[in-house]
Amino acid sequence: MTARGFFVSGTDTDVGKTVVGCALVRGLRSAGIDVGVMKPFETGVDPDRGPLDAIALSTAAGDPDPLDLVCPIRFALPAAPNVAAAAEGRTVDLEIVRQVYTELSARHEFMVVEGAGGLLVPTTDTATMADLALDLGLPVLIVARGRLGTINHTRLSVEEALRRGLDLVGVVISHDRELSHADAENLGSLRRWLGDRLLLEIPVQARPEDAPIDARNIAQLVERLDRLQAKERPGSSLALPGARSADSFGTS
Ligand SMILES: Nc1ncnc2c1ncn2[C@@H]1O[C@H](COP(=O)(O)OP(=O)(O)OP(=O)(O)O)[C@@H](O)[C@H]1O
Ligand SMILES: [Mg+2]
Repeated sequence: MTARGFFVSGTDTDVGKTVVGCALVRGLRSAGIDVGVMKPFETGVDPDRGPLDAIALSTAAGDPDPLDLVCPIRFALPAAPNVAAAAEGRTVDLEIVRQVYTELSARHEFMVVEGAGGLLVPTTDTATMADLALDLGLPVLIVARGRLGTINHTRLSVEEALRRGLDLVGVVISHDRELSHADAENLGSLRRWLGDRLLLEIPVQARPEDAPIDARNIAQLVERLDRLQAKERPGSSLALPGARSADSFGTS
């Protein structure tokens, strides 16, 4: 498992993980980086339409791999993977996820993996999404809402990620609707708490599936990942042309 990459988690289900994941995948590709994607478990899958998150991520990546590898485990019930599996009399086999990730990460320079729900959503009866990110050796990027409720959800997610020893790439706030005055004031407090950990905000999009990302945000993301990687494996670098110099992120 040698590819650079990150695990996209969120403060909740339906917060914009796929919107953000796809936008970052497109931005990384525009920066000349070969990206592989995975949505290891997708639940709520209609057999006629297929795993829609996995399809969106794969499209953003240029469809480099078969969909059965991008999304090896699928269930019909829109619930946590272990719950959706039990509803079909099945269990989740994490070894499949590890094997597929090993294969795809050997093919690509960079991997973007979208979890289901948030960090403590169970994958099996004894493991969580956070365990999976640790297992795959990936730092986490947490996607959050802009609306009321986000201070608590985001702080809980960030603090739990760090408590569990995960590396945090940062937080991305995706705005799925315009903020009220109260929401905007509230969000100001979260922005101050996050400081450098806030990687970027995606404004409300008419076409969320095409959300653009500024090249400077991609350079900053790669630089953060380089810094995390250098901490773990001195000497390695993705060496993105034009990456900016270090800011204070992750050094405190
Ligand atoms: N910046 C944005 N502008 C407009 N709509 C957005 C934005 N971000 C997210 N949304 C909308 O919010 C909804 C949830 O987004 P998305 O599917 O990316 O969430 P998710 O966290 O991946 O959900 P799941 O837990 O099901 O995987 C979608 O309808 C999406 O279009
Ligand atoms: Mg999703």
